[in-house]
Amino acid sequence: MIYLKNAQQLALMRKAGALLYEVLCHLREAVKPGMSTAELDVYAEQMIRKHKAVPSFLDYQGYPATICASVNEQVVHGIPSDTVILKEGDVLSVDCGLILDGWQADSAFTVGVGPISPENRRLIDVTEECFFKGVRQAVNGNHLGDIGFAVQTHAESFGYGVIRDLTGHGIGRAMHEEPSVPNFGRPGHGTKLRPGMTLAIEPMIAMGDYHVAELEDGWTIVTEDNSVCAHYEHTIAINEHGLPELLTYPGYVLAEETT
Ligand code: MF3
Ligand code: CO
Repeated sequence: MIYLKNAQQLALMRKAGALLYEVLCHLREAVKPGMSTAELDVYAEQMIRKHKAVPSFLDYQGYPATICASVNEQVVHGIPSDTVILKEGDVLSVDCGLILDGWQADSAFTVGVGPISPENRRLIDVTEECFFKGVRQAVNGNHLGDIGFAVQTHAESFGYGVIRDLTGHGIGRAMHEEPSVPNFGRPGHGTKLRPGMTLAIEPMIAMGDYHVAELEDGWTIVTEDNSVCAHYEHTIAINEHGLPELLTYPGYVLAEETT
């Protein structure tokens, strides 16, 4: 069942989202060649706890960290480690979630470590564009398939693969609520979107084929063809006006569609 949030609940989710935005901004600035992904994880947990929030990933189904740090061909759920040292040219995805006053926020970004290749730069940029194409469709009366279709169309126009085995999701008091939010779909198909719905929209886009595999650690998802992957995610609400609001990107205003 889909839990619609009222104005009060949305206000609380906005607070959780705003805090996560701050945390992710600091993490993005902290990424440097030579540092380990475990260092980023410690920094994230400290920031979250300092603000009286709780890391939502830690202990989730036994997950051992505050962030997921996924490098290059790793799609998502990379476990931070002292032995993973970031180097120039890497493509790093950082995913993080927190709980503030009982409400969840979930967001991810992908960044180049130092200078990166033009091909990888484009993959990161297009993945972000995919998110924004998708979120524009998150308006009252549209369908979930409109979001997925917009993401998929943009990614595939560059020859990229849209990961299918993992999706976005509803979010609220729980990190994962109904519905699931695929990054592919057919216009006009799937659940109808309504004010009060809160969704994590999270395109995962591979340079190559979309098939993925899980590593022996039981968490890390990689592309089967080892092509580089990017991930971009925000928690959004369809607000009382029926329009998308980016809870984990406060102040961001979606411009009028021109095309
Ligand atoms: N952000 C991820 C998602 O959207 C959650 C990471 S799974 C965890 O589903 F185990 F790391 F929490
Ligand atoms: Co998510």
